[in-house]
Amino acid sequence: MENLRHMMNPLDFSVEELESLFDLAGEIEKDMEGYSHKCDGKILATCFYEPSTRTRLSFETAMLRLGGKCIGFADASNSSAAKGESVADTIRVISCFADICAMRHPKEGAPMVAASRSSIPVINAGDGGHQHPTQTLTDLLTIRSLYGKLSNFTIGLCGDLKFGRTVHSLINALSRYEGIRFIFISPKELRVPDYITEMLRQKGIQYEEVIKLEEIMPQLDFLYMTRVQKERFFNEEDYIRLRNFYILDKEKMALAKEKMFILHPLPRVNEISVELDDDPRAAYFKQVQYGLYVRMALILTLLNIK
Ligand code: CP
Repeated sequence: MENLRHMMNPLDFSVEELESLFDLAGEIEKDMEGYSHKCDGKILATCFYEPSTRTRLSFETAMLRLGGKCIGFADASNSSAAKGESVADTIRVISCFADICAMRHPKEGAPMVAASRSSIPVINAGDGGHQHPTQTLTDLLTIRSLYGKLSNFTIGLCGDLKFGRTVHSLINALSRYEGIRFIFISPKELRVPDYITEMLRQKGIQYEEVIKLEEIMPQLDFLYMTRVQKERFFNEEDYIRLRNFYILDKEKMALAKEKMFILHPLPRVNEISVELDDDPRAAYFKQVQYGLYVRMALILTLLNIK
């Protein structure tokens, strides 16, 4: 394929390219019908070696809404990975069948290995605790749509900042915009990795780390809540101790700005009380909708379809 391009990391696209992608997502939102045959005859493969609801189904919906078709697996135990096939061999096989592939894998870097062997565009749909670029595209589009711009705001990221790949991707992506101030809210065991704080220090970007959510609530324009991820813990005892460390409820929201939006990549467990779902500041289900538009835009862009 000419101009073969993958999406491994949000930084693979320049800020200008992301603006074009978000503009295209906005056009798609306004005119879904107008895009409904853009991918006629194209096939998306979704290769998911880890569980997913949103990412896999939104990729598949995106391709179906564009007029294309989907193949794939949602459970690696039903694929030849169970017989020992490598990701490198699997993507060579998938390249014979599909035009584009979205891959989720529990091992950091696995989609990158796939991309290096692929003759079709590969999209990283989440690799271990590393990156989740299309969630980041979703988050950026949501912020841009709600706030009108991607600059000059304070964002609190709360919960599992150590293993949370959505958090790592989002911090990386936001570090390229002007006037972003980060507040990291986590227990000390789940602090954001040193390589990320080091990157922020080198770029001269403001950040602070706190344990108590209540004390910083009034400063935030966005609060990005995350789940404590059972599947990334090495022992159950630590998970049980930390899983309910933060629960956002009406009492805490009373401390927030009138226009502070709550984001969450989902799935949620207990960290946002369902009593907040009707609060106009709860934007996490809107975020899912934006994820569909941005994945449609990404498929079109990687397939070079105008
Ligand atoms: N946000 C997200 O990645 O959700 P899924 O795990 O359901 O795909």
